Amino acid sequence: MSDEIKRPRFDVIMSQGGAEIIDATFRSARSGDATAMYELSKPFVATGGLIARDLELFDTDVEELYVVEIDRKVVACAGIRRFTDLAEIFNVVVDARWQSLGIGRFLLASMLIVLESAGFADAVVFTKTTRDWFARYGFVPMDPAPLPAGRLAMLDPERKSIPMVRPTVRAEDGIDALAGITELRVRFERSGLEVVWDSGCDSLLFFAEKHDIETASLCQGGVCGTCSSPLKQGTVSYHVRPEVDPGDGSILLCISRPAANLVLDL
Ligand code: FES
Repeated sequence: MSDEIKRPRFDVIMSQGGAEIIDATFRSARSGDATAMYELSKPFVATGGLIARDLELFDTDVEELYVVEIDRKVVACAGIRRFTDLAEIFNVVVDARWQSLGIGRFLLASMLIVLESAGFADAVVFTKTTRDWFARYGFVPMDPAPLPAGRLAMLDPERKSIPMVRPTVRAEDGIDALAGITELRVRFERSGLEVVWDSGCDSLLFFAEKHDIETASLCQGGVCGTCSSPLKQGTVSYHVRPEVDPGDGSILLCISRPAANLVLDL
């Protein structure tokens, strides 16, 4: 495995409209992240979604763990358990304040890229309370029979967790794996059109034009502000940092792609 994959780092620039930018980074966990990961996991343990792990375990297993950081604060984490020909993603948690904003999608897409780079074709999760969430990201229930006996022996029959599986994601698909790992929908509200995002599209501007939605643009590089459009719902990722304020609640269509389902005032 290359050093790059041993210590992966992916950055994404996100926006929910307006001048405020969310800079999110996916990276390998460090020893100093143990307390933050432990605290993040606590509410999920309390509701039965996760098996309790001691604080020390987050430190001991730090090589297996990954985090998403915003403003130097850990807001999401997950781990990878490697078996001979199978990898499992475990302890997937996102801070409640950052749920439904595309952070979980970013975390999962990044984990799937890391696993593909490490030679795994599929990723498995065991879940009790989040089947629908994983199903949204393309995981489907699987027959546990081919799973390693050692892993199955670790299962608590009382928990009734089920295994789910999906393919990993090729690194060259890049972080538009954000959209590519599952279907995203874009609603052009004034036009009365709702369509599935095409992850082969460079930007929402091209996507809108492709669907005959009227737009305006000049620089097509996030500089002039001409393509600014109100975002009524959702989160976008910018592939370059905007050089102009799009205005309250608005985004620059020419440099953005969906990071969650969107409603646009177009
Ligand atoms: S066209 Fe200039 S910022 Fe989008």
